[in-house]
Amino acid sequence: MNSSSQTSPPLVVEGVRKQFRRSQTAITALNEVDLTAEAGQFIVIMGASGSGKSTLLHAIAGLTDVDAGKVLVNGQDLSELSDVRLTKFRGKEIGLVFQAFNLIPSLTAEDNIRLPAPASSHLSERVDQLLKRLNLQDRRLHKPGALSGGEQQRVAIARALICDPAILLADEPTGSLDYDAGQQICQLLHELSREQGRTIIAVTHEPNVAMWADRVVVMRDGKNVAEFTPDGSRDPQEVAMQYQSLLRRPMEAV
Ligand SMILES: Nc1ncnc2c1ncn2[C@@H]1O[C@H](COP(=O)(O)OP(=O)(O)O)[C@@H](O)[C@H]1O
Ligand SMILES: [Mg+2]
Repeated sequence: MNSSSQTSPPLVVEGVRKQFRRSQTAITALNEVDLTAEAGQFIVIMGASGSGKSTLLHAIAGLTDVDAGKVLVNGQDLSELSDVRLTKFRGKEIGLVFQAFNLIPSLTAEDNIRLPAPASSHLSERVDQLLKRLNLQDRRLHKPGALSGGEQQRVAIARALICDPAILLADEPTGSLDYDAGQQICQLLHELSREQGRTIIAVTHEPNVAMWADRVVVMRDGKNVAEFTPDGSRDPQEVAMQYQSLLRRPMEAV
């Protein structure tokens, strides 16, 4: 661990670039992205399909090598870690939540939550705390197939939090949920950032998700082109208007 980890922000992204090659053409998925996240912030990255949101989350998680620039998590430059150390570091410091939940169907809720954690004397206590906080106590012995979508996503969030990561990353976390279940997940992410001082970064194209954020980062063509703070009224139309007006600005002006 880097010696500056106590004072570094949980996340610093600096000048990150990433290209993919598809047959003869190069696709620029990330183009000079800069982003700093402070502890306890709930940040939503908003952009159209193909704007680079998932690639950015993968770069932050160290699941994608970047071509240029740096990702520092708690002061640790991910590119300085060997594959083995990166995997360990990710397991400890980064929680991941996906649109499709990605739970193991044959395991109970409790065992899905426990799965990523190394054995320790406090593990059962921590699983109990998370089950209670995420209102899953009476679902602990259910397998994913017997849970609603919202419950499955809460299990996935508990699993992502079991190792007490510095950052929780969520890629379209409400994409498989109906409106009410999606709103519950957004409220939960908002509360967890407050209560636990957790840095949470969620990717979405939906204003009704972005309205819960402390900061909305707008991505276009692989670049974070603008940012705004929702006014707290939780009005998706207000957020949609702000987003659209920032997206419409010419590239040079942003
Ligand atoms: N593994 C890959 N191989 C080739 N192109 C990719 C790959 N992953 C993403 N891309 C391309 O990079 C761009 C950004 O993709 P992505 O980050 O998935 O966007 P978003 O999540 O905002 O929809 C898109 O043009 C996409 O087609
Ligand atoms: Mg995506």
